[in-house]
Amino acid sequence: MANAEVGDDWYGDDPTVNLLQARAAELTGKEAAIYLPTGTMCNQVALHAYVRSGHRAVCEATAHVGRTEVSSAATLSGVAFHYLTAPDRGLLLGEQVATALAPDPDDVAVVDLVSIENTHQVGGGSVMSIAGVRDIAAVCADAGVPLYLDGARIFNACAVAEVAVADYARAVSSMMFCLSKGLGAPIGSVLAGDREFIAEARRLKILFGGAWRQAGIMAAAGLIALEEGPARLPEDHANARSLAEGVAELLPESTDPDAMETNIVFIDVSGTGRGAGEWRQMLAAEGLLVTILGGRIRMLTHVGIGPDEIQAALTAWRRAAKAVATIPSR
Ligand SMILES: Cc1ncc(COP(=O)(O)O)c(C=O)c1O
Repeated sequence: MANAEVGDDWYGDDPTVNLLQARAAELTGKEAAIYLPTGTMCNQVALHAYVRSGHRAVCEATAHVGRTEVSSAATLSGVAFHYLTAPDRGLLLGEQVATALAPDPDDVAVVDLVSIENTHQVGGGSVMSIAGVRDIAAVCADAGVPLYLDGARIFNACAVAEVAVADYARAVSSMMFCLSKGLGAPIGSVLAGDREFIAEARRLKILFGGAWRQAGIMAAAGLIALEEGPARLPEDHANARSLAEGVAELLPESTDPDAMETNIVFIDVSGTGRGAGEWRQMLAAEGLLVTILGGRIRMLTHVGIGPDEIQAALTAWRRAAKAVATIPSR
């Protein structure tokens, strides 16, 4: 990072950013790619490019793009969502998407985009297979609607499905992935697609205030993340599974380690008679910071979290369980 050659990305003349974008295009097999500060900005740029204000995007009911980012999509682009509830861990099916893409008999609701998420965060880091993505792609192609992949953690999916990222990319119109999160860069995400789409994405990146100077300092870390990150992900998956197994020993029924595929562990503490907020407080007092999502406790593994850290986390859980037992229930 210290030695990165830099320029002004507004003008497209930061050589390290350009190198990262070329590498991302090559890896995904797409014509072009663009480096953006966050995964959210990739999603928002894609929504703005595809979906006309007042039209809809189809997504899974708990997808990041449609829930966490719902106000961004409304504010920046006037996008409404058609939510579909997946039968299994957030993984949409082609037949569900087909129903959502059937023409509105009243000619009012118009769908401009289908968005899928792989791995699916709220689904517990679940992996959509290539066959599953292709089913949805076929339905979208029949309806003439583009298919976008929120692949914030697509490399985690690739590690489990044992396929190249280009295999997933080939099935969709465009996609994004995060260089931060599991791949280990401190910042940055990439949007990839055909040349025309990326040219529009560049315009929107500038419009949304995302053109950055000397971004090559960060892009240099992104290049290392792409080089070294993917091969390391199975370690994260094994560590996440140990963490789930340890918590399941302590709190049976709170999580299913056998359902764990990647690096996201959800713990459902509802059976303990204590709220997730109380558990979070007790865990924080033991030095373990967790988030709460949809009423469940969420933990993720990534670079820098090894077996020792997993053991430390489990010690915190055991101590917190003792402390929780002493609080009078409300
Ligand atoms: C599936 C998914 N998409 C998009 C994002 C947004 O990425 P960022 O936090 O870089 O904006 C996240 C963040 O957790 C995510 O889990």
